[in-house]
Amino acid sequence: MLQFREVKMPVLKDNGVLIKVIATSAHIGDTRIRRVDPFLVRIIFGLFKPKKNLILGLEISGIVEKVGRNVTLFKPGDEVFALTGFGLGGYAEYICLPEKVKEGKQERKGQIVIKPRNLTYEEAATVPAGALTALKNLQKAKLSRGQKILINGASGSLGTFAIQLAKYYGAEVTAVCSAKNFDLVKFLGADHAIDYTSEDFTRIPQKFDVVYDAVMKSRASRCRKILKKNGVFLNNSRQPKIIGDDLPFLKGLIEKDILKPVIDRTYSINDIVEAHRYVDKGHKKGNVAVTVYSV
Ligand SMILES: NC(=O)c1ccc[n+]([C@@H]2O[C@H](COP(=O)([O-])OP(=O)(O)OC[C@H]3O[C@@H](n4cnc5c(N)ncnc54)[C@H](OP(=O)(O)O)[C@@H]3O)[C@@H](O)[C@H]2O)c1
Repeated sequence: MLQFREVKMPVLKDNGVLIKVIATSAHIGDTRIRRVDPFLVRIIFGLFKPKKNLILGLEISGIVEKVGRNVTLFKPGDEVFALTGFGLGGYAEYICLPEKVKEGKQERKGQIVIKPRNLTYEEAATVPAGALTALKNLQKAKLSRGQKILINGASGSLGTFAIQLAKYYGAEVTAVCSAKNFDLVKFLGADHAIDYTSEDFTRIPQKFDVVYDAVMKSRASRCRKILKKNGVFLNNSRQPKIIGDDLPFLKGLIEKDILKPVIDRTYSINDIVEAHRYVDKGHKKGNVAVTVYSV
């Protein structure tokens, strides 16, 4: 259940960065933790139910308010975006995150990066979790120029990031979504589109180097027929290992106008319950942003 509470200001450590949160997202991961989805919550957030007073929020954007005495990379006034890691905490007015974390611990401890200059706070807040997951999956498949990829759930958060990243890697993209989202996926670069409501993509004659079931509605065994020999099936069942260079790399693509988050709706934090209800329906286009503080 989501409830507003007064909580203590986070304590700033010597290596910590205190950020005034301007925006966050209603991320599918937040809604799953709220619902105590067993796969995510039991493994990552403790047995059977989330910690008492767990503040959700996997990703944020905001302004650095104060820095700890050992911090050199950020200063008050810096505009940043961040993955909050397993500590979550984005649905609050302030969050404290470490300036830098040990390599390979980014998905656990979070990561702060200067915000892409060409995105609003709301746009920037929807990038870290979805774009990093899509990026790591495509990297796992070693997607390369001229290869063919099919993306199932192409109109969702992961799908919309994956289309743009696959085009960046030079692949030919077939997007699976409902017909109402054809214009969106083609605008993002998809070469072909299949309507899952009228056609079973696992029975088409074409073969692919990579099938990415971004929406987790299919199975490897069902997709085997449309994979080339040595083709790769991907979904999001494994937590990807994020490294320190990943989020700065995505920021670079954003600033070169190669990657842009799709924002379906923006809610105020006061309407967070409505935002979660909308995400729970499972039909958002791209991402849902949440304004925590209006600037
Ligand atoms: N987003 C992340 O960062 C992240 C990270 C790790 C794991 N995951 C997991 O990955 C999955 C997808 O996450 P997401 O955030 O991308 O979801 P999402 O944004 O909520 O996906 C919604 C989209 O999926 C489409 N869709 C719904 N049912 C479909 C179907 N049967 N076939 C094809 N498309 C369908 C919808 O299109 P229509 O309206 O046309 O139906 C809608 O555009 C979830 O299981 C999530 O838990 C997500």
